[in-house]
Amino acid sequence: MCAGAAFGGRADRRRPLFAPRLHYTSRMHTTDLTLTRPDDWHLHLRDGAMLAAVLPHAARRFARAIVMPNLKPPVATVALAGAYRERILAALPEGADFEPLMTLYLTEATTPEDIAQARASGFVHAVKYYPAGATTNAASGVTDLRRCYGVFEAMQKHQLPLLMHGEVTDPAVDVFDREPVFVERHLTALLRDFPALRMVLEHITTSEAAHFVRDAPAHVGATITPQHLLMNRNAIFAGGLRPHNDCLPVLKRETHRRTLVEAATSGDPSFFLGTDSAPHPRHAKESSCGCAGIYSAHAAIELYAEAFEAAGALDKLEAFASFHGADFYGLPRNTGTITLRKQPWTVPDELDFGGTPGVPMRAGESIAWRLQA
Ligand code: NCD
Ligand code: ZN
Ligand code: ZN
Repeated sequence: MCAGAAFGGRADRRRPLFAPRLHYTSRMHTTDLTLTRPDDWHLHLRDGAMLAAVLPHAARRFARAIVMPNLKPPVATVALAGAYRERILAALPEGADFEPLMTLYLTEATTPEDIAQARASGFVHAVKYYPAGATTNAASGVTDLRRCYGVFEAMQKHQLPLLMHGEVTDPAVDVFDREPVFVERHLTALLRDFPALRMVLEHITTSEAAHFVRDAPAHVGATITPQHLLMNRNAIFAGGLRPHNDCLPVLKRETHRRTLVEAATSGDPSFFLGTDSAPHPRHAKESSCGCAGIYSAHAAIELYAEAFEAAGALDKLEAFASFHGADFYGLPRNTGTITLRKQPWTVPDELDFGGTPGVPMRAGESIAWRLQA
């Protein structure tokens, strides 16, 4: 089946009635791409000095971001989310126009009352599920989804989306299969038991996940990261172990990467931009037991432009980056624009992550598109 047929069907039925506002101009040797200001629907900002160091990268590119709650301790209550939101706003550079969309970290102690409060707050936009121990700061996550059924009931009622780190942690399951097994063991049951619960399968990495979301009802969406569109698992072992290409879910085979590119460029509104930009200090990644996470906020939209250009689908970038997520979350689309220029630049070898160096995606290498001031 060709790419269009594989991912075209439902998208066509749900296509917006107006044409995307994409301006693609090529004059002499300059190619500019202007698109509606995008949003990042999956972002790690951390806290303190690191927050102050990484926030400007995201705020330059994105109007809004769904902010992940995996701090230590986790952002598990509306009060904590409100305080975290204030710290983010206080850390914004002068004149920046950026709205943090907060999330609650789901624990087994989360109550339906927390959900009602979250909805009433106006600033909490989703609840994040981490399987206990699955990823960075997931120790307070959930050991058994059935313990959260009362909370899911409340989320369904209040139309608060459930964002999922969709991997099983069963040590018997091969690390490359943890996402498909999650889809099969848990996602199918969740969709059956909560048919109106809005769900986002975060940072999808496999054909199984992409196809599940494509075939699911419109209130089931997925975010796709730049690394999973641009790299396959060979990148973890290119010439030796590459800790800066390690993230969760781990990079997969080339066939999966291609399916993700098809999904992202298909026009299907179920798929939207979520960088999963996840800063870790260099020393925490270059370690005998390194942290998972790739930092992409310094060049996120530029990297997506590369991936879409390579697929011959630059005309699909704006909907993926600027429309689908806002529509899914029931928020207005942004009105401003950003412009990218086809002008290669070299990413620094390292960046300041707030008094500690960090290694960004593509460190020391070139990126094809450059954000214009
Ligand atoms: C994320 C982090 O570092 O917080 N890491 C990652 O590899 N994606 C956690 C997450 O999103 O799972
Ligand atoms: Zn995750
Ligand atoms: Zn993440």
